[in-house]
Amino acid sequence: MERRTRRIGRYHLTDRIAFGGMAEVFRGFTFSDDGYRFDVAIKKLLPNYVEDSQFVTMLTDEYRLVSRMDHSNVARVYELVQVQGSILVAMEYVDGKDLRASVEKGRESGDRLGYADVAYIMACALDGLHHAHQAVDERGDRLDVVHRDFSPSNVLVGYDGAVKLIDFGIAKARQNRIQTKTGIIKGKVKYMSPEQAFGHKLDRRSDVFSAGSVLYELCTGRPPFRAKTEIDLIFEVREATPTPPRTVNPELPPALAEIIDRSMARARSARYQTSLEFRDALVQFLRTYAPDYRRTRLARYMKRLWSDEIEDELRALEEWALDLPTEPGEDLGTNLLAAELGPDAPYAKFSPRPTRVTRPIDAVIPDRASDEDTHEPFGFSEAKTLVTPPDDDR
Ligand SMILES: Nc1ncnc2c1ncn2[C@@H]1O[C@H](COP(=O)(O)OP(=O)(O)O)[C@@H](O)[C@H]1O
Ligand SMILES: [Mg+2]
Repeated sequence: MERRTRRIGRYHLTDRIAFGGMAEVFRGFTFSDDGYRFDVAIKKLLPNYVEDSQFVTMLTDEYRLVSRMDHSNVARVYELVQVQGSILVAMEYVDGKDLRASVEKGRESGDRLGYADVAYIMACALDGLHHAHQAVDERGDRLDVVHRDFSPSNVLVGYDGAVKLIDFGIAKARQNRIQTKTGIIKGKVKYMSPEQAFGHKLDRRSDVFSAGSVLYELCTGRPPFRAKTEIDLIFEVREATPTPPRTVNPELPPALAEIIDRSMARARSARYQTSLEFRDALVQFLRTYAPDYRRTRLARYMKRLWSDEIEDELRALEEWALDLPTEPGEDLGTNLLAAELGPDAPYAKFSPRPTRVTRPIDAVIPDRASDEDTHEPFGFSEAKTLVTPPDDDR
């Protein structure tokens, strides 16, 4: 079955992978300047947010910060673009699943993440978080970025074991908007810090607490704060006295329990003061608990856990036919971060159509008879390097 991509500006949108209160997230692709397909994730704002110019300004300001980040544990943002009445965020596509989905899947299939996996994933995510916290402007002044929404669904784990933090930049704008509209905090209360649940001014240590809450859940199988209603949950979070992790899970290594306690201290001054300190504690744990731990181990787990989906996703990719514009000069939109990203940014080279002639593999690989007959190179030189003739042909 062939499906047609939905093209907006430079991007071809394929399957929708998430639908939130504020945006839809699609898998998609564009073409890079070397002519190949380049996978992206596209976050498309819902229409009522697009019309809210104050919101868009705030979002642009936040993404301006995010676009400066360059770290292997933070998903890259390529552009924030206003095109054909939509606002899109084009990001690095992480071929994998978010941590929330993976934990659920692990529970269902009885193949859960081990403590070493958990420590490794969290150490990587905290590395990315620290990079964001350290961000400075062009004069070298600290930008004091706070993620505000460190949660399992914002930690992506690739099938190759890569760990990437997402959803920076949007949390603040979202929170401001909701707060001004309704006067109360709404959203993902579950992993908030107590100061966040009070509506106080936040610093990086708020993210440290949230990461602690995520670690707690990964280690005990239960979120630290639970309540019947959102209001009760807010009070639980403000109290910040969860059941000790080793009471919930007596098998939890004590060293890991100590790390959780420290990161979730109610008083900011009693927590790890930076994500890096927190990360180092986890790395230290890993060194004694599983000294041979490698990223490949996480990759193996992800591939095992999601084997059926990986196959389905690969197959689905081949079903898409390009929605190519007939005439050139199409609207590629206005990049709201253009000044920030500069003229050499990757997006500037993205194109909605293959920039070089590529042919289906069947056309590239000639059958033997025609090859012997004509000795024609098959259209373009890459084919020669792609297809090595079998020995007996030489
Ligand atoms: N760059 C990406 N690569 C792959 N999947 C992604 C990417 N960004 C988001 N997703 C998927 O979409 C979900 C929602 O994206 P997110 O940016 O967190 O939006 P929301 O504002 O709804 O939380 C994520 O939890 C993840 O499953
Ligand atoms: Mg999210």
